[in-house]
Amino acid sequence: MKAIFLTINCLLTTLSLQAQPKVDVQKEMEFAKAQYELMLEANTDLSRFPQSVKKEGTLDTRTSDWWCSGFFGGSLWYLYEYTKDDKWKEAADKWTMAVEKEKYNTTTHDLGFMLYCSFGNGYRLIKNEKYKDIMLVGAESLATRFNPKIGLIKSWEEFKRFDYPVIIDNMMNLEFLLWAAKASGNSKFYDLSITHADNTLKNHFRKDYSSYHVVCYDRTGNVLAKKTNQGAADESAWARGQAWALYGYTMMYRATGDKKYLNQAKNIAKFIANHPNLPSDKIPYWDFNAPNIPNEERDASAAAITASALLEMYSYTNDNAHYRLAEEMLVSLSSKAYTANLGENNYFLLKHSVGSKPYKSEVNTPIIYADYYYLEALLRYSKIRL
Ligand code: GLY
Repeated sequence: MKAIFLTINCLLTTLSLQAQPKVDVQKEMEFAKAQYELMLEANTDLSRFPQSVKKEGTLDTRTSDWWCSGFFGGSLWYLYEYTKDDKWKEAADKWTMAVEKEKYNTTTHDLGFMLYCSFGNGYRLIKNEKYKDIMLVGAESLATRFNPKIGLIKSWEEFKRFDYPVIIDNMMNLEFLLWAAKASGNSKFYDLSITHADNTLKNHFRKDYSSYHVVCYDRTGNVLAKKTNQGAADESAWARGQAWALYGYTMMYRATGDKKYLNQAKNIAKFIANHPNLPSDKIPYWDFNAPNIPNEERDASAAAITASALLEMYSYTNDNAHYRLAEEMLVSLSSKAYTANLGENNYFLLKHSVGSKPYKSEVNTPIIYADYYYLEALLRYSKIRL
């Protein structure tokens, strides 16, 4: 009897040890605060948004019309969410308002990234009605890119002579439109999001649930070609594309409760988790089929987006595998291998992302969206326990 009691006790101790979080969120957030204080001191021109690091090692900045302009403000909102310190709220507001004029931009499908990561987080946290009004104008602008005959939001004006390209990344901008549907009561935003998500689900995925990067359509919605822009090959699995897909369908399940989206996300997660080229530290190469693996760059941004999505998925699936993979990714991202030293890395948090290897752009550099999704993942991780 005593032996059984001791065994059970031992088992419970082991289980409770196993359930201890392996990432020290408080420590990582303290570092993020200190590093981003330096980032704010170094960036005072509100028309130039921190983006990455140039080949010669200096800071690379972009204007508000670049698709990443919402991520710096968004990262500052996450720091405000964690600290509740007005200092971060003021900084976040400044860098968020600096994106405002993009609400009229109808030339990009990326308004979700630009306006929702910035104003959306701000509105969620402080309910500033001005942010809401700006976003609703922006949502109308984004909706102009939806062609009802084709049933998809157009990504770029042209790609390799095709005039209706749609990229998997575009799933991410639906979160903004689904918010707009609720905030405005206009079901058009909801309907077009569902149509876009369903057509992407139908046409963007292979049998193994990996995703093409670009699908090109004709004017009646027929698929003309399936290609890549940032991946290694048309038939390869570009790592960030898989991350966008995972995040996008997890978010679609949150917004609609439709199980088919959750099933899709689960299958994408399986593709990533079981891929023979996923390294043991779980930070993907920039493409799962990059030609020279293991001598290829990793993409910390893909890991940060994937980890954040998996943590949300875990809250729906209760599947420990989803939590564990996210945690392993965060353990690696928060290690010295990927997290910068204070004052280095041009004040970005993470090192080693890949923007576009085929274009030799932002290869093995810090990138602002890696920081944004890393902070989001840390916040999610701090709220969820096994
Ligand atoms: N949306 C562009 C990218 O993920 O690089």
